[in-house]
Amino acid sequence: MQNVLSYLEQNKERYLDELRELLAIPSVSTTKAHEADVRRCAEWVADHMKSIGLHNVQIHKTAGHPIVYSEWLGAPGKPTVLFYGHYDVQPPEPLELWTSPPFEATIRGENLYARGSADDKGQIFIHLKSIEAYLKNKGTLPINLKLLIEGEEEIGSKHLEVFVREHKEHLHADLVLISDSSMFAKGIPSICYGLRGLAFVQIDLMGPRKDLHSGSFGGTVHNPIQALAEIVAQLHDKNGKVTIPGFYKDVRPITKAERAAFKKLPWSDKKYARELGVKQLYGEKGFTSLERMWVRPTLECNGIWGGFTGDGAKTVLPSKASAKISVRLVPDQKSTKIARLLEKHIKRITPKTVTVNIRNLHGGEPAITPIDSPGVMAAVAALEKGFGKKPLYQREGGTIPIVVQFKQLLGLDTVLLGFGLPDENAHAPDEFINLDNFFGGMKTSVHFYNELPNYYNSQ
Ligand code: BES
Ligand code: MN
Ligand code: MN
Repeated sequence: MQNVLSYLEQNKERYLDELRELLAIPSVSTTKAHEADVRRCAEWVADHMKSIGLHNVQIHKTAGHPIVYSEWLGAPGKPTVLFYGHYDVQPPEPLELWTSPPFEATIRGENLYARGSADDKGQIFIHLKSIEAYLKNKGTLPINLKLLIEGEEEIGSKHLEVFVREHKEHLHADLVLISDSSMFAKGIPSICYGLRGLAFVQIDLMGPRKDLHSGSFGGTVHNPIQALAEIVAQLHDKNGKVTIPGFYKDVRPITKAERAAFKKLPWSDKKYARELGVKQLYGEKGFTSLERMWVRPTLECNGIWGGFTGDGAKTVLPSKASAKISVRLVPDQKSTKIARLLEKHIKRITPKTVTVNIRNLHGGEPAITPIDSPGVMAAVAALEKGFGKKPLYQREGGTIPIVVQFKQLLGLDTVLLGFGLPDENAHAPDEFINLDNFFGGMKTSVHFYNELPNYYNSQ
């Protein structure tokens, strides 16, 4: 073990150089213009897998972006881990808010800044480098590994679901391992056991056939921006509750035990508000911030546009206005059902003066993973060795759509071993990965592979 850990230490600079190469590829899955970059990124990941000694490296074409698969199955009788991650990233815009360019990884202080540094290229890389260190020093791994790295997580993992369905037997494993979430805070490692789901829709409102002079026509036609603002404003009541009828019907109430456990976590609303730069927090009445983020469903307007937004002034009464709305879901809500309820509600509250069109963009189901599984126990031991502290248990507000499919299609529970930080600016300008977490994550991963067989006593 010592050799493996000192190899990590000795190769830090090279690891960072290689990570810079991976982060330089703008693999933005949602943008058509980046299709070739996404493909190039899949090839980079596949080549890298070959170079570190993984076997059977394959790039699977799909109707969307490619899926990269590889394996190392040289430990018969030992547990098999299905490792999942995503090499696609969110769009970097707005570019002007980045301190250094999003696809030129730059170290400032103790962080490395780039799009995808934490979500999720940096976290995939932690594992690839731990595997390299192990294989280079021991010529073997203590477990069997199947790696599945996709390019469509940020757009709903639609084609991965089909792939998993079609390769059920081949993907057989004992557990799923994912590093695509955050630690509770800097220096406080954690195990995540819950993710929220997502329903995502776009609303388009159509008013007059074309843009109108706001002086000549203003006052006679319902401005679609105003109508849209009225709709969006009605989606929450004064207690911060979502007003869609039936929205809370399938929500599993928080248990007393979980409430008590959350209360024990080191958390300060004041500090949180200050860090975010908001004057006061907002949310559903009757719940704490952690409960609002982790166990309550919420609705957000992600973007709203229409009319004239350029420099200077143009007096126009626009023909159209649009908004994107994301809904975060908790067990036992279903994304298709909630999207349907949302659509029905919006249609009902849309004024007669405009025409509405609602499009379903993508979704994902909420997930809970058991914390008494062998995988989680091994992760607890590994985090303690990697970061020198016992991990906390937490849930997260984000979504990883495939987690539920792994359970439903393969019967596998997932261990969520996150090395990000809550303030890592994922999906925002100046995304970063903390370097202590990057290298601590590698140490932890090496320990995890090493510990895991101890928790599978049947082997
Ligand atoms: N890594 C995130 C999910 C995540 C975020 C997990 C925060 C834990 C904490 C993932 O890449 C992501 O952003 N997922 C999308 C879902 C998708 C269907 C667009 C999300 O949550 O918005
Ligand atoms: Mn991610
Ligand atoms: Mn993401």
